[in-house]
Amino acid sequence: MKGRFITFEGIDGAGKSSHVEWLAEWLRAQGKTVHVTREPGGTALGEKLRALLLNDDMHLETETLLMFAARREHLARVIEPALARGEWVVCDRFSDATYAYQGGGRGLDRSKCQILEHWVHDHVQPDLTLLFDLPLDVARERIVLANRVLDRFEQERVDFHERVRQAYLERAQHHPGRICLIDANHPLENIRQKLEQIVIERCS
Ligand code: TYD
Repeated sequence: MKGRFITFEGIDGAGKSSHVEWLAEWLRAQGKTVHVTREPGGTALGEKLRALLLNDDMHLETETLLMFAARREHLARVIEPALARGEWVVCDRFSDATYAYQGGGRGLDRSKCQILEHWVHDHVQPDLTLLFDLPLDVARERIVLANRVLDRFEQERVDFHERVRQAYLERAQHHPGRICLIDANHPLENIRQKLEQIVIERCS
């Protein structure tokens, strides 16, 4: 039996993280073995790189290379072995985030992202990507209401986040078979129903 690889994406404040755990529980209730993980992070080394990436200033290419270094480790130690065992992996962000944040947000040449993507995981792509989308002002309001310390990306200006959002939407247009757009400006219960429906349709 083949395992499935599902990724969650969206601008900061889109609320995807609260759906990650819920979907994993729902899948477990269907009898699946599910690993919940995140990027940057997911391994001991990856979590150290995450701390640097979220807090320390660095050159854009350093940032991109570290994202992919953490990803390589994550694939080798967690994602690929789980999929090979026929298990499911639910991951909070993956390479679409690099295209959206480093590419769209910061303006990194797309071809550089593509080179790294081919190098690091040409052979592994998500089976399904759930892209949570909502207007920027609603996302910003959610972040303000959460009232916590903001990381380096969350502290970026509104125009950065608008570019990230547009880059995500473009990726959804270019990969309609994999990326499924979710309107995150709906009550939690409606979104959960939609997630169930999508996973049944696309991963059965
Ligand atoms: P995030 O999922 O927002 O963590 P949390 O829910 O704990 O705030 O991820 C952290 C940040 O990392 C997010 O702002 C986007 C950024 N990021 C990139 O810029 N590029 C990437 O390739 C990835 C995976 C994340």
